[in-house]
Amino acid sequence: MSQAPPNSHLAPWRAPLARALHRNRALPHSRYVQLATVTPQERPSNRTIVFRGFWQPTNQLKFITDQRSAKAEHLTHQPWVEVCWYFPKTREQFRVAGRMQLIDATCKDAELLAARDRQWMDLSEQGRSQFFWPHPGQPIPAEPIITPEDSGTNAIPKPFCLLLLNPETVDHLELRGDPQQRWRYEWSATASPQWQLQAINP
Ligand SMILES: Cc1cc2nc3c(=O)[nH]c(=O)nc-3n(C[C@H](O)[C@H](O)[C@H](O)COP(=O)(O)O)c2cc1C
Repeated sequence: MSQAPPNSHLAPWRAPLARALHRNRALPHSRYVQLATVTPQERPSNRTIVFRGFWQPTNQLKFITDQRSAKAEHLTHQPWVEVCWYFPKTREQFRVAGRMQLIDATCKDAELLAARDRQWMDLSEQGRSQFFWPHPGQPIPAEPIITPEDSGTNAIPKPFCLLLLNPETVDHLELRGDPQQRWRYEWSATASPQWQLQAINP
């Protein structure tokens, strides 16, 4: 039996997160989060990525990345991640931790592969073109190289990955108000209900 949170039922942290997304929707950067991974050398590594919504009807957060990127390599070594999200208008922070699943062209699960296909279809031309660029993170050669694939083809390029984050803890801090407020949502396979909510000191 899986010890990860199930894919049914809306988790209780979804309502405050949906509210924050709605109230901050005028700010394009309210969909940017910082994603922390762990390197094979056990060091933290952090970068900004775009939140792409939920994998319906689950509580899993969707992101996309390039399979050749450092973060993709980190995930094969250590799937545990944390994303940190700040909403400037409502002055709230959400820290969402759990296991991140990377879905690439070799995935054997038909449902996940279909989700990857749909995510590709949803991407703009500009968003798609990045997956035809040379290897991210590598030095730029003195002589320009011709990339074997080009964005004119209809096939989904191999480096395109869907990332699904299955949260197990969510820490929500509200700076607005005196006193500030903070809540911890924690998932447990054995508790009832499985998502426990606790108000904690900020
Ligand atoms: C505003 C913003 C949005 C970004 N969105 C993504 C994204 O959705 N996916 C992604 O892989 N990289 C995204 N990046 C680039 C990453 O921050 C990072 O530079 C790149 O993925 C390489 O990271 P890595 O070497 O740690 O894997 C974004 C950067 C910025 C500044």
